[in-house]
Amino acid sequence: MDRQSYIQANQDRFLEELKELLRIPSVSADSSFKEDTIKAAEYIKAKLIEAGADNVELCETAGYPIVYGEKIIDASWPTVLVYGHYDVQPATPYELWTTPPFEPEIRDGKIYARGACDDKGQVYMHVKAFEAMMQTNTLNCNVKFMIEGEEEVGSPNLGPFCIANKEKLKADMVLISDTSMIANDIPSIDVGLRGLSYVEVEVTGPNRDLHSGVYGGAVANPVNVLCDMISSLHDEDRRITVEGFYDNVLETSASDREAMAKTPFDLDEFKNDLGINDIQGENGYSTIERTGIRPTLDVNGIWGGYIGEGAKTVLPSKAYAKISMRLVPNQTGEEITAKFEKHFNKIAPPFVTVKVTPHHGGNPVLTPTDGAEYQAAAKAMATTFGKDPIPTRGGGSIPIVALFEAELGLKSVLMGFGLDSDALHSPNEHYGLFNFYKGIETIPYFFQYYREMK
Ligand code: BES
Ligand code: MN
Ligand code: MN
Repeated sequence: MDRQSYIQANQDRFLEELKELLRIPSVSADSSFKEDTIKAAEYIKAKLIEAGADNVELCETAGYPIVYGEKIIDASWPTVLVYGHYDVQPATPYELWTTPPFEPEIRDGKIYARGACDDKGQVYMHVKAFEAMMQTNTLNCNVKFMIEGEEEVGSPNLGPFCIANKEKLKADMVLISDTSMIANDIPSIDVGLRGLSYVEVEVTGPNRDLHSGVYGGAVANPVNVLCDMISSLHDEDRRITVEGFYDNVLETSASDREAMAKTPFDLDEFKNDLGINDIQGENGYSTIERTGIRPTLDVNGIWGGYIGEGAKTVLPSKAYAKISMRLVPNQTGEEITAKFEKHFNKIAPPFVTVKVTPHHGGNPVLTPTDGAEYQAAAKAMATTFGKDPIPTRGGGSIPIVALFEAELGLKSVLMGFGLDSDALHSPNEHYGLFNFYKGIETIPYFFQYYREMK
């Protein structure tokens, strides 16, 4: 049987297996899901073994295990390291989902579940593409799988694992499906990802919650102060005011910006999808530029005072916010976290004290388009989509990708099959069955062309 017939003949089973994986709530951020998160690792391990991988194991770390497996057929062939993650973002609040997040359901050709696209659906394409190549004797590269369970919490243990296992992870490149394309009829490949600096801030005023009538007007309210401080972090051009924030930002050349301007983008569709009447962003840049080549600062959550039912008249003692900054080349996570901390302390008025706690971070990446990695991915997509993919810049982050290059000396290719509208990290996350099967069909061509071009 040829490979495409094999995929077709087994497509229902592939989907059933993905559903089984999606039923496991592997939320890495919430320790109450610990057992399930490990179960997801075990499931992938079992499926890699079934598909024909060798030396499959769960590599223990200080956190969740890394699923490793390999198929080394011929030392003279190139070796592709496939990276992905089996953990998912929290699915709360559950009441915003049409059907429960861990009970996958198919509606109009899409599978709805937390992790459907990010990244279980895309990881599983690789497992099934591998199975299809094994069953039809068409695998012509060596493969190593490294599927982690802590991507959504900043990959705290994967870096040390890579550094400690350089020999085991020896490969020619990294293949990753954890990003989006422009549309199902407009294939694209991300050639860059933004980095991240994530911090939590705490603003303290009086030593206890106060009666807002007895003290209000005479004592600074930390929630009010935090709001003022946060507003001051952008100027009237929506540029970030953190001192030195733009020092290392790599300005994109005029010709690259011209090329970006040709990327298909429908502003009305964008606004419609999000239910907004207008957009906001840094002056002088298009929407694609704002998410692709420019850094950002966003409050991810803010709290303090009374948020229970009804009203309580209180002047809170403390206020908090979680703030993320998306970074572009050549900013680094460390640099920006340090600059933020210094700036936030500096702008704190005398009537409060502030504390900045760094969470995780990661550096931005750019991947070259002239190497065999990108060229093989572009040709593979051209083969199955019938048109050349467009190089794009992804706005999200996969912090470990920069480390693959720095520590393992490996270039990555970001051959993702999702769509930005798949509601990653949102309620009702979904993944098109078209995308799932297109990925399974495309991945083997990648291996074939990479071997030819390498
Ligand atoms: N798969 C995403 C990253 C992504 C999505 C890149 C779409 C490009 C397009 C990844 O799982 C993710 O969500 N990363 C986090 C990183 C963080 C938790 C350290 C992110 O970007 O917020
Ligand atoms: Mn992901
Ligand atoms: Mn994610």
